[in-house]
Amino acid sequence: MTKEITVSGVRPTGRQHLGNYFGAVLNFVKMQELFDGYFFVADYHSLTTHPKAADLQANVKQIVIEYLACGLDPNKCTLYLQSDLPQVPELYLIFNMFAYLGELEREATFKEKVRDQPNNVNAGLLTYPVLMAVDIVIHKAAKVPVGKDQQQHLEMTRDYAKRFNSLYNCNYFPEPEAFNFGGNLVSIPSLDGEGKMSKSKGEQTCIYLSDEPDAIRKKIMRAVSDSGPTAPNSAKPQIIQNLFSLMDLVSTKDTVQVFDEKYNNCTIRYGDMKKQLAEDMVLFLAPIREKIKELSSNDKLLAQIIGDGGNKARQSAAQTIKDVREIVGIKNF
Ligand code: ADP
Ligand code: TRP
Repeated sequence: MTKEITVSGVRPTGRQHLGNYFGAVLNFVKMQELFDGYFFVADYHSLTTHPKAADLQANVKQIVIEYLACGLDPNKCTLYLQSDLPQVPELYLIFNMFAYLGELEREATFKEKVRDQPNNVNAGLLTYPVLMAVDIVIHKAAKVPVGKDQQQHLEMTRDYAKRFNSLYNCNYFPEPEAFNFGGNLVSIPSLDGEGKMSKSKGEQTCIYLSDEPDAIRKKIMRAVSDSGPTAPNSAKPQIIQNLFSLMDLVSTKDTVQVFDEKYNNCTIRYGDMKKQLAEDMVLFLAPIREKIKELSSNDKLLAQIIGDGGNKARQSAAQTIKDVREIVGIKNF
């Protein structure tokens, strides 16, 4: 039986954090067992912010190492770099014809970037969702493991796939869905209590997969909290809920329950809760951190994995481009 296809990627914009892990990579690891998985490093996507070449190169390597350290297995899935598929920019050009300016301008991440970086609102940023759609449809994927922040991009991907199918009167591209094994897409909160954990928000707001135990302890002890509940069984404010959400990820159910009860009877001491959370986090991340260190000096292995993955991904992409050229009417003589 042929397996369903899944595709996803992470931008090489820095070390990966807990959000990347629980929103994306943990799902990739589970999906490689059941799906035909294509997991890549979205290096073209990171060019929108004009990184230095040496930084980009180091970050690409870091993402590949972290994929492997988290448990992606090149014998079970295809690991590659987005820029190793020349078919991606070709299909991106074609898909730009179905992407309308008004929709692109209304997209939430684009509006956020316009606000945050008004001096660099480039066309690559505007058409970012088109390139992302192409990453997905180039392998005709059905499921896309991503965090909650990518939901709108997935809706746009479905729109482009539908428009292509409808314009060319074919049923060529599946309409892919965002996916998380837990059922709902997740958003891991930032340690500063504002929004999601993100590589672009800075060192102190993220727990990175490669963080040393002391760095983890310091960051968690500094995470924002408040002076504690004043009435029994009161609703948790967002910043306190965030601490409980992090605890849910890495601590045992019993531990969470103990602190939940203390919260409800107003005896909670956030210092104690954070200490417990920090120790559980250190333990949880230890095997990944060790594996990252182990892989960091094995350039030969990384090159081989990415080389083989590129070959496999190009085969799949080449078939799609061949079909698309024919459907669209761009045919070689
Ligand atoms: P970042 O926003 O930190 O730069 P990326 O944009 O490269 O990370 O995201 C890679 C993947 O990780 C995407 O699937 C994205 O949805 C997911 N992701 C990023 N941050 C979080 C988060 N805080 N919670 C859940 N998923 C996240
Ligand atoms: N846009 C995604 C992010 O910022 C990264 C990405 C690029 C991606 N292409 C993709 C994710 C294709 C899933 C599928 O997180």
